[in-house]
Amino acid sequence: MRKVITYGTFDLLHYGHINILKRAKEQGDYLIVALSTDEFNEIKGKTCYFSFDERKKLVESVRYVDLVIPENNWEQKIDDITEFKVDVFVMGDDWKGKFDFLKELCEVVYLERTPEISTTKIKNELGLNGKSK
Ligand code: CTP
Repeated sequence: MRKVITYGTFDLLHYGHINILKRAKEQGDYLIVALSTDEFNEIKGKTCYFSFDERKKLVESVRYVDLVIPENNWEQKIDDITEFKVDVFVMGDDWKGKFDFLKELCEVVYLERTPEISTTKIKNELGLNGKSK
């Protein structure tokens, strides 16, 4: 079995997310999504509209996703790849080159982002930025 892993926040789940999850799954047979926790988002200066538990339920409901694990910090990727015996690491090409150091452990694939959609864009267009729930 070929295992694939990808990382992200996946707030306000949108078709760009679905698209990358579908194509990530096509890289293998089993897709793990490491979903950033609310605490890790805080460190990154990101505030999510949906909580970790809400985002986790949504991502788990996507047919291409087999397992959702928490992403707690920048450094855990090497441990995850080893622990879950990952064959392919997938990220959107906004991260191109940034994770090439993982090539020692597994394949590293950057997939093209879906144009013209992002969580930030949705938040901006709905006036959600900076507003609490
Ligand atoms: N992604 C994508 N196409 C988009 C938006 C996101 O392929 N239009 C991918 C990203 O490259 C990443 C994954 O989806 O691999 C999760 O991205 P995330 O940062 O959670 O989504 P964004 O919509 O980019 O969120 P933000 O605007 O907060 O950065």
